[in-house]
Amino acid sequence: MTTDAGQQWDAAAYGQRFGFVAQLAEDLVGLLDPQPGERIVDLGCGTGTLAAQIASRGADVLGIDADPAMIDAARAAYPTLRFEVVSAYDFTADAPLDAVFSNAALHWMTRPEDVLRRVAAALRPGGRFVAEMGGGRNTELVSAAIRDALARRGIPPERQARPWYFPTPAEYATLLERHGFEVRALWHFERFTPLAPGDHALADWLTMFASPFTGDLTAEDRAAFHAEVEDATRHALYVDGRWHVDYRRLRFVAVRI
Ligand SMILES: C[S@@+](CC[C@H](N)C(=O)[O-])C[C@H]1O[C@@H](n2cnc3c(N)ncnc32)[C@H](O)[C@@H]1O
Repeated sequence: MTTDAGQQWDAAAYGQRFGFVAQLAEDLVGLLDPQPGERIVDLGCGTGTLAAQIASRGADVLGIDADPAMIDAARAAYPTLRFEVVSAYDFTADAPLDAVFSNAALHWMTRPEDVLRRVAAALRPGGRFVAEMGGGRNTELVSAAIRDALARRGIPPERQARPWYFPTPAEYATLLERHGFEVRALWHFERFTPLAPGDHALADWLTMFASPFTGDLTAEDRAAFHAEVEDATRHALYVDGRWHVDYRRLRFVAVRI
């Protein structure tokens, strides 16, 4: 199944090999500080790991995701919780929410103002929007290697996919304010992230997260493409016998005025 950037999500592989995405954001749940009985939506909940952590604090959580396979996996893992297949662009709440939470999902939504309009409309005044996403210069080294490998295949930058939205702090704070939020805190930080052990880890990461770039390549060329990205980034990203990705995150706490 694809979401708006043409990204193919493999829910089983995501759950098995990329659990670190949710694990690294467990303290984001602390920042949300969910209270018993609060109505909270986890936007782009994926396989439901963080929605379950929010629910364990006694909040009434609904996990929503545009990808049916992700929602199937979340329902299978947490059968007592509520999950729905809904796009962030269409999401509405039947009663005002106390908070909207999101991890590693907003940067897949390339129309951020349409998402912010939905989030603002769903929250009660005073409700919190607490999220983490890729921030400006996220995965800069990997992205440059991807773009160079595409250019060598005769695909110039203007014809290359643009699946990711990685705003700077100034850009995103401005959008939040424009949509009726007060920005209480915002961080932009490096997170040089080790992948699972193994020489194929970066290729696995590309298969999981970079499919919008390689949709037109044959399976054989895709393997060559992955090898070129590995060669171009090995000096910086293969450290102590392990592949890493040069993540940079944007994390914020905003309150609906
Ligand atoms: C990297 S996963 C993160 C999942 C989960 N939040 C976590 O921390 O593990 C990104 C998720 O965003 C979802 N997503 C992307 N675009 C979306 C949209 N427009 N509406 C809802 N979900 C979307 C994808 O389907 C995917 O499950």
